[in-house]
Amino acid sequence: MCGIVGYIGNNAVEEVLLDGLKNLEYRGYDSAGVALNDNGSIDVFRAEGKLNNLYDVLAGVRARVHHSGQGIGHIRWATHGGATLDNAHPHKSNDGKLALVHNGIIENFETLKAQLQQKGYHFFSQTDTETAVHLIDDEYKQCGSLEAAVIRAVNQLKGAFAFCIMHQNEPDKIIAVRKNAPLIVGLGHDENFIASDIPALVGKAEKIIYLDDNELAIVRQNDVTVKNFNGQVISKRAEPLSLEPEAISKRGYKHFMLKEINEQPDIIRGQLALRLPDVNRPVVLEGINPAVLTAGIRRVEIIACGTSLHAAAVARYVMESLCRIPVSVEAASEYIYQPHLTDAQTLVVGISQSGETADTLTALKQARAAGARILALTNREDSSIVRCADMVLPLKAGIEVSVAATKSYTAQLMSLYLLALSIAEAGKTLPAEEILSLKRELLQIPAKLEEILSNSGEIQQCALKFSSFKNFVFMARGVNLASALEGALKLKEISYINANGYAAGELKHGPIALLDEHMPVVAVLIPGSQTYDKMLSNCEEVYARKARLIAVSPVEDLRQKAMFDTVLLIPHCREIFSPLLVNIPLQLLAYYIADNLGREVDQPRNLAKSVTVE
Ligand code: M6R
Repeated sequence: MCGIVGYIGNNAVEEVLLDGLKNLEYRGYDSAGVALNDNGSIDVFRAEGKLNNLYDVLAGVRARVHHSGQGIGHIRWATHGGATLDNAHPHKSNDGKLALVHNGIIENFETLKAQLQQKGYHFFSQTDTETAVHLIDDEYKQCGSLEAAVIRAVNQLKGAFAFCIMHQNEPDKIIAVRKNAPLIVGLGHDENFIASDIPALVGKAEKIIYLDDNELAIVRQNDVTVKNFNGQVISKRAEPLSLEPEAISKRGYKHFMLKEINEQPDIIRGQLALRLPDVNRPVVLEGINPAVLTAGIRRVEIIACGTSLHAAAVARYVMESLCRIPVSVEAASEYIYQPHLTDAQTLVVGISQSGETADTLTALKQARAAGARILALTNREDSSIVRCADMVLPLKAGIEVSVAATKSYTAQLMSLYLLALSIAEAGKTLPAEEILSLKRELLQIPAKLEEILSNSGEIQQCALKFSSFKNFVFMARGVNLASALEGALKLKEISYINANGYAAGELKHGPIALLDEHMPVVAVLIPGSQTYDKMLSNCEEVYARKARLIAVSPVEDLRQKAMFDTVLLIPHCREIFSPLLVNIPLQLLAYYIADNLGREVDQPRNLAKSVTVE
């Protein structure tokens, strides 16, 4: 949610900033801008919409701006104020000497704004950010030092903020500030960088300093000093940046989403090699001892948002079945504001691909304060969620660039299956031979994922046939209810088609009124499930209302039934693991429909990959 970058060094600052912003575009695309220290004065260039528009703006003035050695940049996901040029960052002080970019929300901006207006400051945007600019400027005018002014100002701000700040009178530095919004400092040779996230620094910085909340970094070309909000120096460790540029490239695919969907078999194979190297030995969960994890625990709460919440719903079914422990699932944004029973006997599992989702972080902090033990599942071992947790189970999916979560979901599911198996093994809640058989079945999953991906032509055909429909229903039962919800989320977020997931048994309690020949219904039918026959009956009910049915199922014979328009085949597997397989055709269906419609698949409107505001 907004991406910020900063650079100080001898290379062409404009290029470095634009390159960094390009790799952060998944964080927002409402506007983009850079501020460059151009021979003693600060020039700001901004554009509405995507980063490409900023390239165009800069192309017109390129001759003027290539020589600077200090600059900051921003891509915006609008919170306060529309996606307009006036609201685009960087924002400047009234005298034009100070420029700032911001990610987060300043909660007390209205009070501060009124005070600053009384002092004569003029505001030119509807943003909360401009308040920070004028507040720092006001302090600067009193104390004459950018660092001191920033420290004074940040102590007056409430909310979440990551800033990069530069001042014309102090061209030797950029100040980076972090409170409840991610920010890292990249170290290079005779140059230093600042960014919201690692992709902006790949191929540039050699080492990284992770700022913690309530810290600021004074970043010079050859020196970085980190201080707390009291001005005391803090010693920080710089860690190597090992990610290769290849990790954030499309590798020949048309979109990141398609590349990431196709990476899933290898990701799962990698997890299994690491965590299940020998079916006759217990599951290995990097440093997590399941007996210690669950000692004294009476219940589990799983907290997440969006796609991660759907992984949580699968996990509830799986943990209750395999581990015989009560599990509740909460959307983080709801957990925060409702009474809950979290206590020292509760294991709270927080799931977040990015590890930066503000709602999830706040909920986990609350749960921790209530005495719960916290396990975090995340794809970003360097993210904030790690600092909220007692234990961390990494997803090992590699950087996910497309805004729509795909490979991280599959990686979450596999991590949760292995977690549940590990707890079941330690607690002996299942017979040993049953655990062995489950493990053996899990080892077959990567090949089955490959089989689905190699037959994607059928899914493309289906997408072609159904791309013009304006509404979809997804229905399933049991462990695949989450698959229906996730399939619908994927379709709506990247194609903008209205799609809703339902428990198939609930259809007749209201949603069936929606059905007619204009409403395709995607149904998940898994044989061997106790609800298979019920699902078939539900499909009959749908067919009777003239809705066209798309089945996702391993049952080839369904193709003989007149009621199914299309059957997307998946390999056979136990129902409990079937969400891993069902998910792939649903991801591809959404992808191909969105692509047929010419949507911006990797950057759907109004969304951002990392939702760092509550
Ligand atoms: O990084 P997180 O897993 O915490 O993100 C949660 C949701 O914001 C995310 O899953 C979102 O729903 C995606 N756009 C889904 O594709």
